[in-house]
Amino acid sequence: MNQLLARKPVSQILQETATTEVGLKRVLGKWQLTALGVGAIIGAGIFATTGTAIVGDSVRLGAGPAIVLSFVITAIACGFAAVCYAEFAAMVPISGSAYTYAYASLGELVAWIIGWDLIIEYAVGNIAVAISWAGHFRELISHFGIQIPAWLSIDYRTAHQAAAAAAQGATDPGTLYLASAVSEAPKLFGLPVIVNVPAVLIVVLLTALLVYGIRESAVSNSIMVVLKIAVLFFFIGVGAFLIRPENYTAYGGFAPNGFKGITAAAAIIFFSYIGFDAVSTAAEEAKDPKRDMPFGIVMSLVICTVIFILVAVVMTGMAPWPQLGTAEPMITALALARGNDRMIEIARFVVALGAVIAMTTVLLVFQLGQPRIFFSMARDGLLPQWAAKVHPRFRTPYVTTIITGAFVAFFAAFANIDEVVELTNIGTLFAFVLVAVGVLVLRYTEPDRERPFKVPLVPIVPLGAVAACLFLMLQLPGITWIRFGLWLAAGLIIYFSYGYRKSRLKAANGSA
Ligand code: ALA
Repeated sequence: MNQLLARKPVSQILQETATTEVGLKRVLGKWQLTALGVGAIIGAGIFATTGTAIVGDSVRLGAGPAIVLSFVITAIACGFAAVCYAEFAAMVPISGSAYTYAYASLGELVAWIIGWDLIIEYAVGNIAVAISWAGHFRELISHFGIQIPAWLSIDYRTAHQAAAAAAQGATDPGTLYLASAVSEAPKLFGLPVIVNVPAVLIVVLLTALLVYGIRESAVSNSIMVVLKIAVLFFFIGVGAFLIRPENYTAYGGFAPNGFKGITAAAAIIFFSYIGFDAVSTAAEEAKDPKRDMPFGIVMSLVICTVIFILVAVVMTGMAPWPQLGTAEPMITALALARGNDRMIEIARFVVALGAVIAMTTVLLVFQLGQPRIFFSMARDGLLPQWAAKVHPRFRTPYVTTIITGAFVAFFAAFANIDEVVELTNIGTLFAFVLVAVGVLVLRYTEPDRERPFKVPLVPIVPLGAVAACLFLMLQLPGITWIRFGLWLAAGLIIYFSYGYRKSRLKAANGSA
């Protein structure tokens, strides 16, 4: 019991990493950290999940044009959580993010749980992004007349849903293309082989880049972040001229499903905000983490919130919202808008290109973050030591980088995006809750520790983060809770059969 609750003192955490012989390179400044955050945030969430959130589906209500309020609600929840992350990231600038903070404040068992839970946010989240990347990539190259066979670029469930729709008489080209995966795929033991090859290839490519080195990846990330922000402002600028005010009120009014629709959508588009917290995993590569960590976390969230709200206003003003429920709602909105055809055609191409760039940066940041969490866990003895190896020449945690790449690539080949997004959201919200609780606990247990950045209005803000994140978790379906429970149960089994015995903290304390 003592070990489960054993906390790793902040002073020990800081000292351990200071004396590591081969550390990570400190090369990132405050704007590069902000770019990492924006790089992680703007991706599949805004480009893809917004469609289902606006329209709803068989298990949830849609928000309609009131999606803009969903973005505001989620931004408030994330804002509370962001300042909690900022306090920790400045005080304990270690690559393990929430995992390290939990170890310092809530003890080893909770630290393990959160480390295990973060795999959902980082690696499982990236499975969704890789799938969405592949969808937009397919769309993009179709502008050049290239078409990948459907069975090589989608998942089994999407293919079968489309085949069922086609069997019931659907005739639009998009559905027929997806359905062709079932009829054209080669068969293995009578089952069609349907594999998302582009999703696998992009993950493999980025994994190689990350093994090669942090500086190179941070620079390419910054360039792509600038490009994707430019594309979103282009969409906002073009779209602003295409707004028809009646779109906000026709079709059931501004909030057709009331508060329920708004909050259900908020729990889905939460995916679009995930990522500001990922800045904290680069803490050991930051030049001046005490000052720059809070800046990067909060600034990336602020920038993205403003952009999301503008995109939401424009998107729902351009087209009738009931028709936006596709996997590419921004492109659909352009297709449905009435205006100069040539201009709209160009805008569609630019948005497809922007989506591919945006999701590449998201993949990059999370593929970069996940190994650093594994790295911290291995350093603590909760995972095998070989996982903590830093590459002698590139000085990157290459073992965990490759393991993460293999995991994400494998599931991206077969998984369905909707299920993956919901699981990612519940896991990430849970991590946010624990970080906010951790801030409160550490204020109580180590009140005098130097805090370069302090959460304002304690305990109101951390408690607000806990309440808001729990509220969003409750909007997610029961099946997502069950999957999440199973994931945590598997994590506990692994902890008690490995980490519990091998923990370095246990060895140091000499506790049995
Ligand atoms: N926020 C990230 C995205 O939307 C995870 O892709």
